[in-house]
Amino acid sequence: MIVDRRCFLRYVGQGVFLLGSLGVMNSCGGVDRDRLSARDQKQRQIAGLTGEEMDILYLASLAPSSHNTQPWTVRIVEPQHWIVGSARERWLPAVDPQNREVLLSIGAFLENLVIAAEVHGYAVDLSVVAKSTSDKEIVDIRLRKGSVRDFPLEKIKTRRTIRNNFSDREIGADDLRYITLHDKRRHLVEVMRPHGFYFPNRSPQGKYLQEGTIEANKKQALRDPAQQELANWIRWSNKDAEEQRNGLTPDSMEITGIAGLFVRNFYDRKSVLSKSFRETTVDKVIKQVRTCGGWLVVTSRDSRIETLIEYGMVFEGMLLRIRERKVAIHPMTQMLEETPGRDAIAKELGLSGEVQWILRIGYLNSYPDPVSLRMPLSRLVIT
Ligand SMILES: Cc1cc2nc3c(=O)[nH]c(=O)nc-3n(C[C@H](O)[C@H](O)[C@H](O)COP(=O)(O)O)c2cc1C
Repeated sequence: MIVDRRCFLRYVGQGVFLLGSLGVMNSCGGVDRDRLSARDQKQRQIAGLTGEEMDILYLASLAPSSHNTQPWTVRIVEPQHWIVGSARERWLPAVDPQNREVLLSIGAFLENLVIAAEVHGYAVDLSVVAKSTSDKEIVDIRLRKGSVRDFPLEKIKTRRTIRNNFSDREIGADDLRYITLHDKRRHLVEVMRPHGFYFPNRSPQGKYLQEGTIEANKKQALRDPAQQELANWIRWSNKDAEEQRNGLTPDSMEITGIAGLFVRNFYDRKSVLSKSFRETTVDKVIKQVRTCGGWLVVTSRDSRIETLIEYGMVFEGMLLRIRERKVAIHPMTQMLEETPGRDAIAKELGLSGEVQWILRIGYLNSYPDPVSLRMPLSRLVIT
């Protein structure tokens, strides 16, 4: 157990006595994402990349990924010709054995990459090279000069996942239309119209998704390989978070204030495997699913590699539109990961396609800034 003495914490049994002022508590906060990225920017160039290209890849890396594993890699083939791949050591075999979520996450990374490149005056040609979901190399990318796109990159920088404090107000039709807008000029595959189906939380389908999500979380919390995998991706201490720069931190799991201080100092891998942690996880999920506007279920025609990548892009496209509407989207993938699984869900909801995303959706009163960490580019770029 690592105890940070500067925190002046005395830990007695289950109780925590905090000695010191608020100022002390602030100095014991989590790892600051902006400080790390400012430090990275001062570091040396990566061979084969211009400063502008590094900026494009940094923005791409702000994409969401399951457990924040950041499963993407970028191989520099030649100037402005890259191959985006997937890193085996950042897969989640216990909850995502087919790499479905890896490919969705890589799709989200590519959406950011394409937008950032367009803002810098490039057009991007994408072509899928992977033949299997376990291939190392996934998408071939070529940048060529194009027109400059007017898009506020702040939207990429300020996007984040939020899981708590949702209002239970239903999502307005105008907001739903805006969020699920699909204005793509480029496609790897055609996106079904409509591709997003909204179910208010009080509707029978909303209730089905609430109960199904609770059940799937219970199953997953009791499934040791899944819980061990989760434990491997939680960075409880600041030291671990700063070293790894991926995974979930207390801040990104919204464990803040005194609770955050406590877990940063006293929790470790073993805590995640304890009975009480598993039970608390399920209790949190029950609270979450009871309070939200509803659910957005996204379907596709099939689950081919190109389709999963496209639907990762579609997902990120939606996420880049929600903050301005004070809407939060919380992916809750456990129902898709546990039995009876995706076919049964589509059937129960009366949807014809394959379910790729189950998203809890709700309005927020205030929108906090992003906190999840990202690895430095040097850890994902292969030269
Ligand atoms: C494919 C995929 C699946 C996800 N599943 C879940 C989930 O089941 N529960 C959850 O709380 N967050 C889920 N997330 C959100 C990630 O945990 C989040 O993106 C990651 O921790 C990085 O944080 P950020 O989105 O704030 O940058 C998922 C994200 C992706 C891309």
